[in-house]
Amino acid sequence: MKKVVAAVALTLALAVSAMAADTVVYPAKNGNVTFNHKGHAAAVECKLCHGEGAPGKIALGKDKAHALCKGCHADKKAGPTKCGECHKK
Ligand code: HEC
Ligand code: HEC
Ligand code: HEC
Repeated sequence: MKKVVAAVALTLALAVSAMAADTVVYPAKNGNVTFNHKGHAAAVECKLCHGEGAPGKIALGKDKAHALCKGCHADKKAGPTKCGECHKK
C-alpha cells in the first residue's frame, strides 16, 4: 500500500513540475515584482529555494520573500537588492 501511495505521489510531483510557470508576478502596493522562474531555475539549483525533495508551492509573503530573494542576491553578488529593482510601478 505504501508503495502505491509513493508511486501516485511521484506521478503527481512529475505532472506538477511540468507546469511550473515561466514567470510569477507578485502583486505589491509599492510596485509588482516579476519573478523569472525559468531564468532562476537555469541559474541556481532548485533546492536553494525549494529545499530537498520534490519542488512544489512556496508560501512567500513579504518577510520570507525579502529574506530568500535579497539574501541570495546579496550572497551571490548577483541580482537586485534595491527596492525599485524588484518593485516596478
Ligand atoms: C530562486 C528560487 C527558485 C529556484 C532556483 C527554483 N524555484 Fe521553483 N518556484 C520558486 C517560487 C518562488 C515559486 C512560486 C511559488 C508558488 O507560487 O507557490 C516556484 C514554483 C515552482 C513550481 C510550481 C509549484 C506550483 O504548484 O505552482 C514548481 C513545480 C517548481 N517551482 C519547480 C522547480 C524546479 C524543478 C526547479 C529547478 C530546476 C526550481 N523550481 C527552481 C522558486 C524557485
Ligand atoms: C529581490 C527582490 C525584492 C527586493 C530587492 C525588495 N522586495 Fe519587497 N517584495 C518582494 C517580493 C517578491 C514581495 C512579495 C511577496 C509576496 O507577495 O508573497 C515583496 C513584498 C513587499 C511588500 C508588501 C507589499 C504588499 O502589497 O503587501 C512591501 C511593502 C515591500 N516588499 C517593500 C520593499 C522595500 C521597501 C524594499 C527595499 C528596502 C523592498 N521591498 C525590496 C521582493 C523584493
Ligand atoms: C538562490 C539564489 C536566488 C534566489 C533565492 C533568488 N534569486 Fe533572483 N537572481 C539570482 C541570480 C544569481 C541572479 C542573476 C542572474 C543573471 O544575472 O543572469 C538573479 C536575478 C534576479 C533578477 C534580475 C534578472 C531577472 O531575472 O529579471 C530579478 C528581478 C530577481 N532575481 C528577482 C528575484 C525574486 C523576486 C526572488 C524571490 C522570489 C529571487 N530573485 C530569488 C539568484 C537568486
